[in-house]
Amino acid sequence: MTTDTVQPGPGQPSDALAAAQAAYDALKARRLGLNMQRGQPSDADFDLSNGLLTVLGEGDLRMDGLDLRNYTGGVTGLPSARAMFAHFLDVKAENVVVWNNASLELQGLVLSFAQLHGVRNSTGPWFTQQPRMIVTVPGYDRHFLLLQTLGFTLLTVPMQPDGPDVEAIERLAADPTVKGVLFVPTYSNPGGESISPEKARRLAGLKAAAPDFTIFADDAYRVHHLDEEDRDEPVNFVVLARDAGYPDRAFVFASTSKVTFAGAGLGFVASSEDNVKWLSKYLGAQSIGPNKLEQARHVRFLEAYPGGLEGLMQAHARLIAPKFRAVDETLRAELGGNGEYATWTSPKGGYFISLDTAEPVAARVVQLAGEAGISLTPAGATYPDGQDPTGRNIRLAPTRPPVEEVYTAMQGVAACIRLATEEYRAGRRG
Ligand SMILES: Cc1ncc(COP(=O)(O)O)c(C=O)c1O
Repeated sequence: MTTDTVQPGPGQPSDALAAAQAAYDALKARRLGLNMQRGQPSDADFDLSNGLLTVLGEGDLRMDGLDLRNYTGGVTGLPSARAMFAHFLDVKAENVVVWNNASLELQGLVLSFAQLHGVRNSTGPWFTQQPRMIVTVPGYDRHFLLLQTLGFTLLTVPMQPDGPDVEAIERLAADPTVKGVLFVPTYSNPGGESISPEKARRLAGLKAAAPDFTIFADDAYRVHHLDEEDRDEPVNFVVLARDAGYPDRAFVFASTSKVTFAGAGLGFVASSEDNVKWLSKYLGAQSIGPNKLEQARHVRFLEAYPGGLEGLMQAHARLIAPKFRAVDETLRAELGGNGEYATWTSPKGGYFISLDTAEPVAARVVQLAGEAGISLTPAGATYPDGQDPTGRNIRLAPTRPPVEEVYTAMQGVAACIRLATEEYRAGRRG
C-alpha cells in the first residue's frame, strides 16, 4: 500500500512532531527491557514438550527392530520417524530423510552437495557454473547467509500475499545459471504469506533453462496455524513437481524446532525416492547415521501427546495466537488502519509479522526502539546483505515474550514509528 504524505495546515507540523517526541520521551523514561527480535518459542511453548526428556526409559532401547544405541539403521532415519514426518509433509515414508537436530543444517548439506556434485539432472557440480539462486524478499536472513556462504549469487523476487512472484521467477529461470529458488511456502518469514495452490503448480511446472532447476522449499511453519478453523492449506511440492513431469525438482525441509525444542529436535526433508538415494549417498560418506535416540524420543512423545502432533500444535496456537492479536490490535489502535504511518501483515500462522513504514524510516525506528529498551530485528535484515532498498521493512517476532510484554512493546514500537515518520516529514518540509 502506498500512502500520500499528510499535508498539515499552518502550525501542525511542529505539533505532530512535538507530540510524537513527547510520547517517545515518556516511553524512554519507562526504561523497558523488551525483546521482539528473534523468532524463538516462549518458555511456555517449550514446557509443552518437557515430556520428551523422560519419555524413553531403559525398556525403550529398541524401535523398528533396531537397537537405538547402536550404529545400525543407515542414514535415512528410523522407519517410525520417517513415517511420522512423512505424514507431517504429506508424502510417503520412502520420500523422507530424518536427520539430526534442525533443518537449516540439512538445507546447508543438500545445497553443499549440489555445489560439489550437482543434483540428479545436473551436467556437473554447480560451483563450476557460477550458480545463482532466487530468494524472496522480504525474506529470512539465514537463508541469505547460508546461500552466500556456500557461494551462490542471490537474485531476489518479491513475496506477494499469495506467495513468491512466480512470473519474476520464470523470467529469471530463463538463464541457465539460475539453479533454483529457496523460499518458505507456508506462513513465510517474515510476512506470514502462504503460496496459493495455483502458484505452487505453476512453479512446480516452470520451464527453466537449467535442467537441474530446483525448488528448495523451507516449510518450517507448515503446521503452525494460529486457528485450526481458519488456516492456509500447505502445498505439496514433491507431488506437484512429479505430476508436472519434474520428479526430482523439489526438496521440502522442515523441523520440530518450533514444535518441540528449538535446535534440539529433528530436521527432515522430503523429495523423490531417487533424490533420497542421491542424498543418502553423500550423507553416508560423512555419517554412519543420525541420532536414532532423539528420533525415537520424538516418535514416542508425539504419538502419546493428546491429539498427536496436531494436538500439540493447537496447544502452541493457544499460546501464540493472542500475541499475534496483541500486535495487530495495538498497531491498529496506535497507528490507525489507513497506512498513514505503516502497513503490516496479519498472518494466519507462523512466527512473524512484516511491517512496512509509510516513509523510508525503518532504520530510525529500530534505532529509536533500541534506545527505548525494545530490541527489534535490525532494519534491512529481511534483504540480502542487510540492504533493504525500500528502507521500510521491519520484521516483528512476537512469540517469545509474554503477551502483556507484546502489548507494551508494540505501543513502544508505534511511538517510535510515529516519531521517525514525523521527523522525516518535517525534514522533507525543510
Ligand atoms: C523459515 C525458517 N527456516 C528455518 C528456521 C530454523 O529452523 P531449524 O531450527 O530447523 O534450523 C527458521 C527459524 O526461525 C525459520 O524461520
